[in-house]
Amino acid sequence: MTAYRFLVNGEPTEVDAPGMRRLLDVLREDLGLTGTKEGCGEGECGACSVLLDGQVVDSCLVPLCQVEGRIVRTVEGLSLAARDRGSLDALQEAFLETGGAQCGICTPGMLMSARAYLDAGGAADDDAIREAIAGNLCRCTGYTKIVEAIARTAGGSHR
Ligand code: FES
Ligand code: FES
Repeated sequence: MTAYRFLVNGEPTEVDAPGMRRLLDVLREDLGLTGTKEGCGEGECGACSVLLDGQVVDSCLVPLCQVEGRIVRTVEGLSLAARDRGSLDALQEAFLETGGAQCGICTPGMLMSARAYLDAGGAADDDAIREAIAGNLCRCTGYTKIVEAIARTAGGSHR
């Protein structure tokens, strides 16, 4: 086995595992970051979405060897700065307020896609938001409340 080194939510991390091990399993089982969820396991549902160098990826499709030297951000990292203020990330607050999270299975991945959209300067534009989360499936909400939460955050009613 090889030791792979990368950053996870700002922390230097080393994982000694086979290079083809899925990033999803590395996060959940090796690193205990169980916020990232598994849905389909086939790159179809987006439940496992994380950010790799700021881009949304399906962690069920990314082998560990591709993560060497890169920056991974998970839903746990989303709220780290906010937690210092004793609160949730603005997106998480907005999801709570609008009812954008119901069963919650899609929510961590949805939050990461939304965060990437906002970090890229995404606006409170419903069509653009729907496109940004097109890879994230939700069986519960009909998407309207999720889009509203992201738009609220983009519109500055949350920081
Ligand atoms: S679990 Fe990765 S896309 Fe569905
Ligand atoms: S809240 Fe249940 S799948 Fe989205």
